[in-house]
Amino acid sequence: MRDIRLRRLLAIDHPILQAGVPWVSNPELVAAVSEAGGLGILHPSAGMAPEGDMAGNLRENIRATRRLTAAPFGVCFYLANPQVEGLIDVALQEGARIAVTYGGSPALFTGKLKADDATVLHQVSTVRHARGAEAQGVDVVIADGYEGGGIRGPEEIPNLVLVPQIAEAVSIPIIVSGGVMDARGYVAAMALGAHGVQLGTRFVATHECIAHPKYKEALLGAIDTGTIVAGRYHWPTRLLRSGKSIRSKNTEPPQDSDRQEFWDGELGATQIREAILDGNLDSSVAYCGAGVGLVSEIMSAAEVVENLASGSRTIIAGLR
Ligand SMILES: Cc1cc2nc3c(=O)[nH]c(=O)nc-3n(C[C@H](O)[C@H](O)[C@H](O)COP(=O)(O)O)c2cc1C
Repeated sequence: MRDIRLRRLLAIDHPILQAGVPWVSNPELVAAVSEAGGLGILHPSAGMAPEGDMAGNLRENIRATRRLTAAPFGVCFYLANPQVEGLIDVALQEGARIAVTYGGSPALFTGKLKADDATVLHQVSTVRHARGAEAQGVDVVIADGYEGGGIRGPEEIPNLVLVPQIAEAVSIPIIVSGGVMDARGYVAAMALGAHGVQLGTRFVATHECIAHPKYKEALLGAIDTGTIVAGRYHWPTRLLRSGKSIRSKNTEPPQDSDRQEFWDGELGATQIREAILDGNLDSSVAYCGAGVGLVSEIMSAAEVVENLASGSRTIIAGLR
């Protein structure tokens, strides 16, 4: 693709990012994506026990990733996590210099990260937040559209309409996250004004990802109607359509209850561990992107990157 700003900034061959997904963005997956010329992103909770030490886990995982690749990789930070500053400190101490921030204001830690020469990518779900992120000095905005898996912006804006409006509003590079499953989505994202793509669900269905085989099988079996959005009373949350998620869709918080607390207990990222890492899909909820019907086989992470890169060239040649 022609605009190489993002590739230069991140020192990668292909502007293809693997989303940092709670519990399962493990060193082997991250290293495989980065070795293939994309950018792998570690999640601080990858592989961790339910009540584990997240800072220690992150430190070990950064070291493990570095043993597997000399290529650049990133770390993601959920800004509403009370431990987030400690996690950022660990990442910086361990030499990580690419940070993806989400779930809070970029005013919080962009300055701290940039003072240590980190490149900051911030996830947004509206044009207003994209403008705000640029004003706070972030290097790249990630347009996190309604198609994506997991926690969605309450405005529920899909990428097909969000990305061109963000492209008109900011001058920093834009990455599309949500709904990109293959080369067709990649080319479409670039046509909308993006400089790169981030894939979550597609990279979970890879050999290197430590997600439970039952969860991966469920992804392969899902069709176009395979996801469901629950939790609209607080944070819309896109889930794989399975027993518990169907029940959760209609669960409303009891009157006078704390909506954040209720949502945390029903649909928060800690709830998905049991489904995506332990394979208990009936008793717990699993996040999943709306494009899951396009995921039909388990591949290696390198094949995912290569299929996007070579497939996009074929599509573009066919359009000429
Ligand atoms: C299993 C899974 C868990 C996720 N967990 C979170 C999360 O806790 N918070 C969040 O903001 N996004 C979460 N996401 C969304 C990803 O960060 C990314 O935005 C999304 O997967 C991109 O869309 P796609 O799945 O269509 O590729 C999750 C995605 C998946 C597949």
